[in-house]
Amino acid sequence: MSSASTPTQVPYHLAIIMDGNGRWAKARGLPRLAGHRAGTENLRRILRACVKHGVKILTLYAFSTENWGRPAEEVRGLMTILEQVIDHELKELHEEGVRINHIGRPAGIAPRLQKKIKQAVDLTHANTTLTLNVALNYGGRQEIIDAIRRIIQAGIQPDQIDDALLGQYLYTAGQPDPDLIVRTSGEMRVSNFLIWQGAYAELYVTPTYWPDFDENELQLALNHYASRERRFGLVTGQKSPSSAPLHPAPPHPTPSPDTR
Ligand code: FPP
Repeated sequence: MSSASTPTQVPYHLAIIMDGNGRWAKARGLPRLAGHRAGTENLRRILRACVKHGVKILTLYAFSTENWGRPAEEVRGLMTILEQVIDHELKELHEEGVRINHIGRPAGIAPRLQKKIKQAVDLTHANTTLTLNVALNYGGRQEIIDAIRRIIQAGIQPDQIDDALLGQYLYTAGQPDPDLIVRTSGEMRVSNFLIWQGAYAELYVTPTYWPDFDENELQLALNHYASRERRFGLVTGQKSPSSAPLHPAPPHPTPSPDTR
């Protein structure tokens, strides 16, 4: 399929592992943070392209629970970039109807950034154009552990636990699973990203570094997605869900994000 063709089926939920910022910078003789800044600039165009294509949920892997182990200067720089994105982009994102959602553990994030994230989430909570899940201090295993803890705290009995119930206790409760997970920079790993929700996601890996992943690259990924046959464990011809199953909101009160 050519990059110019329009996919007939667009992923409802697209998730991206934005990898290769460091190598992009190194190839230009720049510090790693310059790569993260270029990657952040790129977010804007990809987000807008997703809105144009009709993607309804975009999940971005911004900072993993493992990323705290990076050099202190890089961690500090990334946190500053995240604050600046909220400071500079929030108004426009809100006007464009983007709903911002944080997935990950708030504990561990600096209180000032936590506060800004909460303000962004509160301000945009009723927006419907596109939901932007920002995975920050996120780990898929940690998410499952947090879900299990909350299930136990809610007094749910073992025989009541199935995959639908567990999904209701994940950070993504109320959202369908990702249809497509894109990873840039060529690495063939999922790196603890959406490991529960991504069970049936289509995977697309491109060698392009994240700062260079432009609208045409997105179009190629969408074209690949549109050409795939999703069987959800069934065989060709059997009736299967048209997209990933929905995890309804939890039936029990959701604890405040601080306890997640
Ligand atoms: C991976 O590249 C990228 C990251 C760990 C950070 C991604 C974060 C941003 C683009 C900042 C802004 C994000 C949001 C959502 C506002 P890498 O450093 O692992 O690259 P390398 O593998 O080439 O070293």
